Amino acid sequence: MKSCGATAPGKVILFGEHAVVYHRPAIAVPVMSVQAKVDLQETGAHHDVRIIAPDLGRDYRLAEAEADDALALIIRLALARFQQVVPPEATLTVTSSIPLGRGLGSGAAISTAVVRCLAQFYGQPLTPAEISELVYEVEKLYHGTPSGIDNTVIAYQQPVYFIREQPIERLSVRDSFTLVVGDTGQVSPTHKAVGHVRRQWQADPQRFESLFDEAGQIAAAARNVIEQGGSVVRLGRLMNDNQAVLEALGVSSSELEQLIEAARQAGAWGAKLSGAGWGGNMIALVEPERAAAVADALLKAGATGYIITEVAPS
Ligand code: PMV
Repeated sequence: MKSCGATAPGKVILFGEHAVVYHRPAIAVPVMSVQAKVDLQETGAHHDVRIIAPDLGRDYRLAEAEADDALALIIRLALARFQQVVPPEATLTVTSSIPLGRGLGSGAAISTAVVRCLAQFYGQPLTPAEISELVYEVEKLYHGTPSGIDNTVIAYQQPVYFIREQPIERLSVRDSFTLVVGDTGQVSPTHKAVGHVRRQWQADPQRFESLFDEAGQIAAAARNVIEQGGSVVRLGRLMNDNQAVLEALGVSSSELEQLIEAARQAGAWGAKLSGAGWGGNMIALVEPERAAAVADALLKAGATGYIITEVAPS
């Protein structure tokens, strides 16, 4: 009986969320310390895939899945990609240490791990671009108009300078830097915040276009700093500037701002929300020696959890 397993990391958006939907550049990096994990074990016992997701309390058959079930959709897309008309007789188990629905890319990571696992199972390796393309199909189901940044950074598993519908640009990181990721504990469906920005943009296109431009310029400036190295102080300021734009876009929240302020007070170089906003996670750029103190300050300010992660030279 065949078996296989695959993983995929979480991610954070460093710069440019929301504006990236409107074709401005954004920067995202994988977070390797949290992972989605998929195991596939051939059983020969039932003529279908049994899907088990213990974290979600789910145990069901592929054939019985609802039309909008993300796991079933990515399995079906992958089976079609591998020209498999009949699903394998197997049990597929999904676990994840990536907080769900909080801007760390849990959905895209699970989909990526499923595709990687099935690619192994059928002995048909796919490129990161091919994996990203399949995962993007599922992202569309949940986000409506996803930019594609999540599936790209996770499938490539590398820092990216991303512009929607343009060839991927890998970001080379000159000097490592440390981030503390703080969780508000609030689940925030991406499509809601994205829909809010769209309605505001439709109502006042001039103002929103100029906010998107500002976010894009900040991401471009941050790219230079990250690629040339050196100025962590400048990078922190750019994060603070980006947070101001996100507040003007209306996607921040009092809980996020409380954590952002606590991180700055505790000595972070800069801090901002990361992802769709209205909950989810924030990130703070810190001196490695200050990481523990900033994490502690976040917990005292109400964070439900934190991750300390280093973005390594690439
Ligand atoms: O999935 P999240 O919460 O990280 O949000 C994705 C980032 C957005 O720019 C808000 C949406 C998108 O499609 O890029």
